[in-house]
Amino acid sequence: MSNPLNVGIHGAEIYIPKKFVNQTELEQFDGASAGKYTIGLGQLNMSVCDDREDINSICLTAVSSLLEKYEIDPASVGFLEVGTETIIDKSKSVKSVLMQLFVESGNHNIEGIDCKNACYGGTNALFGAINWLESGYVEEGKEWAIVVAADIAVYKSGSARPTGGAGAIAILLGRQAPIVFDRGVRSTFMDHVWDFYKPDLHSEYPEVDGPLSNTCYIKAIDKCYEGYLDRLEKYQGIVTPTLKIGDYYLFHCPYSKLVQKSFGRLAFNDYLRNKDAIPVPDAIKEHPNLTREKTYADKNVEKIFMDIVKADQKARVDPGLIASRNCGNMYCGSLYSGLCSLLSETPAESLAGKRIVLFSYGSGLSSSMFSASVQQDGASIAALKRISQNIRLADRLAARTKIEPKVYDEIMALRQATHNVKSYTPVSSVKDVFPGTWYLVEIDGMFRRKYARAGVSSEDSMETTPPLTPVL
Ligand code: ACO
Repeated sequence: MSNPLNVGIHGAEIYIPKKFVNQTELEQFDGASAGKYTIGLGQLNMSVCDDREDINSICLTAVSSLLEKYEIDPASVGFLEVGTETIIDKSKSVKSVLMQLFVESGNHNIEGIDCKNACYGGTNALFGAINWLESGYVEEGKEWAIVVAADIAVYKSGSARPTGGAGAIAILLGRQAPIVFDRGVRSTFMDHVWDFYKPDLHSEYPEVDGPLSNTCYIKAIDKCYEGYLDRLEKYQGIVTPTLKIGDYYLFHCPYSKLVQKSFGRLAFNDYLRNKDAIPVPDAIKEHPNLTREKTYADKNVEKIFMDIVKADQKARVDPGLIASRNCGNMYCGSLYSGLCSLLSETPAESLAGKRIVLFSYGSGLSSSMFSASVQQDGASIAALKRISQNIRLADRLAARTKIEPKVYDEIMALRQATHNVKSYTPVSSVKDVFPGTWYLVEIDGMFRRKYARAGVSSEDSMETTPPLTPVL
């Protein structure tokens, strides 16, 4: 099922807020047992947005930075779609706000709009971009597609709060790409469940049934992986594929321990498909109820298969977890922060010729597994190096500012108190953002939001260094 258009990824940009809270300090502050957030959930730090940032501002930052770093003429963009569940307006889309970045070029002919379903919207936007690029609607001179996957993930205080986070990812897509999406193998599982939802528009916080959401996630892994392997057999002629088919795995990551469990679950699925696929201990061979449905919450089975894949996990999964462990859940952006982690910190030579498998999950629920193949010609390797130099994830994580848990709590209270207000000027300092960051200047009496850019805007009074220089 190859396609001469080779549609895929040409570039990516991640926006990480400057402020973060440390999970060890948060454990102490919350009175949780030592190790619960860091070992139990597998998280190191969590990104924090104050009242200067909203979903529009973080998406503006990601897209303007992507356009600059890859020197994309805004007039050459034909598709732009946003995936988010951070809703600040029931009608006006984030995409329409992003159109401010295209005004100067005179480009108003850009398809795409916002997609919403919990953490899955970015994937729907991505599929929309791939479909558009493979269609007959791409005009000459307007061949770029951009997908934005972003959220500010916040929970009310309690057990879910340490699984928050924030971030925005913008992905540049086009034809003849260095990372090409595999055709025919996309596998989707959708269902109606109440595991996580946001019916209260007066609050940023979701209603969440944590244990149910974990079970739904694992069930979605089972279903999507089964469909993905079936399609590999059917369309790519791969005989009895196992998880070894993927050189790298990227998962939607609410917290990294769930991803480790999920990777083990793939091995469990491999075993159920073919009992000779992997050696297992007697406890598994003699297990009385070894079905998918009866083991969603079986800690013994979970641990045995996590141990079986430990070495593989380090090599194939951990490279995609750097941003998640350090920034937390970005909801729609989470899976694609994994892409940025992998592309930023893995040498181009190690990526060339490899298959990247992606799993997307959005509560409610919607989920998909799909894959992309990294090309290995000289031009593709050069493109991969450029992507890595543009993202520079480790440098950017190191340049952040740690805040105390008490300050984080105050910021959460401020966000909650000012959610949905009008006639409001944010009180947080504009000095606490990276140069090049868009921030909220005011919300007027008709709820209209005005933004400026740190280090760039004439309204900005902060002393800054110049915005990050593109590496081409
Ligand atoms: N040291 C080491 N590990 C510890 C410690 C400790 N001191 N204390 C607890 N743990 C372990 C637990 O054993 C558990 O590990 P396990 O799952 O491997 O058994 C883990 O830490 C979490 O502890 P729990 O008591 O299960 O945590 P709790 O129930 O308080 O909350 C939850 C966890 C449900 C994930 C919560 O944070 C939540 O609701 N988050 C939001 C929902 C979510 O992220 N769902 C995932 C999919 S949907 C989505 O993406 C939104």
